[in-house]
Amino acid sequence: MLSLVPVPASVERRPGSFLIDGRTSIAVDAGSPALNDVGRFLASRLRESTGYPLPLDTVLKGGKGAPAHVIVLTLDPSSSAGKAEAYTLDVTKGGIRITAGDAAGAFYALQTLFQLLPPEFGHGSPVYGVAWEVSCVRIEDAPRFPWRGMHLDVGRHFFGKKFVEEYIDLISHYKFNVFHWHLTEDQGWRIEIKKYPRLTTVGSWRKETLGDGQPHGGFYTQDDVREVVGYARERFVTVVPEIEMPGHSTAALAAYPELSCTGGPFDVQTKWRVFDDVYCAGNEKTFEFLEDVLTEVMELFPGRYIHIGGDECPKTRWKVCPRCQARIKAEGLAGEHELQSYFIRRIEKFLNARGKRLVGWDEILEGGLPPNATVMSWRGVEGGIAAATSGHDVVMTPTSNCYFDYCQGLTGEPEPVGSYLPLDRVYSYEPVPPGLTEAQARHILGAQGNVWTESIPGPRKAEYMSFPRACAMSEVVWSPREKRNFGDFSSRMAGQYARLVERGVNVRIPPPSGFEGYPVLFHDTTVTIESQVPGSVVRYTTDGADPTEGSPLVSGPLHLRASATLKARTFLPAGGSSPVPRGIYSVLDPEENGLAFTILPRRISAGSRADTVRGISYRMSLDGLPLGHDSVTVRLDSYFTVKEEGDYLFTIAQGDPVTLSVDGSPAVTNRGENWWDIPSGLFHLSVGAHAISVSVAAAGPAPWMDMQVSGPGIELQPVPPSMLRRRR
Ligand code: ACM
Ligand code: ZN
Repeated sequence: MLSLVPVPASVERRPGSFLIDGRTSIAVDAGSPALNDVGRFLASRLRESTGYPLPLDTVLKGGKGAPAHVIVLTLDPSSSAGKAEAYTLDVTKGGIRITAGDAAGAFYALQTLFQLLPPEFGHGSPVYGVAWEVSCVRIEDAPRFPWRGMHLDVGRHFFGKKFVEEYIDLISHYKFNVFHWHLTEDQGWRIEIKKYPRLTTVGSWRKETLGDGQPHGGFYTQDDVREVVGYARERFVTVVPEIEMPGHSTAALAAYPELSCTGGPFDVQTKWRVFDDVYCAGNEKTFEFLEDVLTEVMELFPGRYIHIGGDECPKTRWKVCPRCQARIKAEGLAGEHELQSYFIRRIEKFLNARGKRLVGWDEILEGGLPPNATVMSWRGVEGGIAAATSGHDVVMTPTSNCYFDYCQGLTGEPEPVGSYLPLDRVYSYEPVPPGLTEAQARHILGAQGNVWTESIPGPRKAEYMSFPRACAMSEVVWSPREKRNFGDFSSRMAGQYARLVERGVNVRIPPPSGFEGYPVLFHDTTVTIESQVPGSVVRYTTDGADPTEGSPLVSGPLHLRASATLKARTFLPAGGSSPVPRGIYSVLDPEENGLAFTILPRRISAGSRADTVRGISYRMSLDGLPLGHDSVTVRLDSYFTVKEEGDYLFTIAQGDPVTLSVDGSPAVTNRGENWWDIPSGLFHLSVGAHAISVSVAAAGPAPWMDMQVSGPGIELQPVPPSMLRRRR
């Protein structure tokens, strides 16, 4: 099968194939410099991999007069491929013809052509003397959305220019056309501004990260930025710079504390949080500064859009700042939310007057949206719906489907494992919310995957978190809705994993399924482990070690008769393997083991009996409980049995507020605000049984909570059911 991602609108296979070899040449329409650049891009890519020089000729419009055995690139705005970014790719035995509406369309035809070549193509060093086979096919294709974005936060961790370019090259291969470059943060300012040198001499470095004692920093010079923007332009990617305001700005305030409400002093932040110190909205100098910064930014980024952040701005300082309060009075504003709106409107006016459009996170809706702003809906889809309904453009990027910093599996993933966003949930995302009229739906420009980097210290992990989820997102934003099917996508991805591995990208290979978690059994059980990647093999262990190339193959259902830690790993034929999830299978005593669960509705009205559900479970988790209500309180009660005295650490990953009590006293609580806060408590426990209770205030459609423990002789793992004894 053809493993094309994103799946094209129409693919028609034909018999035979075309061979790229020493006779092949490239021809482009005369009189189109943009198309000529695409032709040169093709020649250079083919030369890198095949070693063939592939001469580039210009020919008459429509490819007339082209020689035999040629790859022709031609523009035809009047054809069916005549729309922006659309193309037709015709591969016959005699040649390849690309017809596109514009140069971008021709570029996307090349990305499809590259995926028709073997995986060895495009990994850097040439393979000489080979004829490269391309199956005959006719493909007609066009994007569904005009904004197909991937984001990278270079504020929390700095990523060098070389990686940024590699990232842009990768996303352009999957037909993304926006790179959202999150350039300023509390933890680092990353772009040189000539008028304010302290932004980078002071603001680009922090003392340490979460107490590690290691200074961290870096920034892009204006020359670096120009180079990245030029590199992106060659790949039809628009770079949207983000300069955060009024919040997330401690790095700038560390450099220029006079722009804050209090005057500082400040250090560039070393922890992940939302911080109270923000730009003073009452100080004219703040606006002078930001306009100067934006003036330099606008010169560097030729695109239409400038992102100004606008998210997570606490009003703590503004509430007590005389200058901010004076501004509220002078402008007749109804409080601090309208002051934020005043701030953003003022910046919008400045940008609009210079031909630029403002983009901001959905908080810019609060206190009134600036007239021409584009909204990035991240806290859900409500902000996007509100903006589209009032006639504003929207880019959808809700945490539920688009936050690629969230973990991809429940076990075996690199720490920290906070919120969960598996590949199929990205794939199933539909950017146009139901209920919009056709006219309102046209304001949904597209969607975007966001890569926040609090827990992504460098390129290897950034690749791991971005791929393959970016591939799933590419079909969400490019492919016709009716062509999307997760099973079909998974099959096509097998070819993409081979390509990405060949290229050296640290792509996450999906691990096998069917055994993850901590199942309990009372006698024995049969486990069916399944690969998620066609053509791969799965190897397993039962002793807790990670499977290697030498571990036994899964060749059918496994029969377990005793407690075991089951680990399994997918291995690709081309090299590369998956992370290692685990299932901890426990043989239990049905009379002794377990915990009591109680499920109460959250609201109990006077005079009505509470509809309480009780039962026995075996896991310190909400998995498999008959929750049934939208909003419930769940209590789990058990005895934790300790065979060896020592320090035991309990950690609770949760999406909802939770309390743990040990031996009767509340010990660990969390209100479930930040995904990266995994509440934990350390207890010195003597030999014997200790009462533990967990209470979860579960709200929403998919509540979750998982408690893990480590202690003497126990590495961190879900609380083993064999250590839980029923209360009597
Ligand atoms: C965001 O995630 N604070 C936009
Ligand atoms: Zn102020």
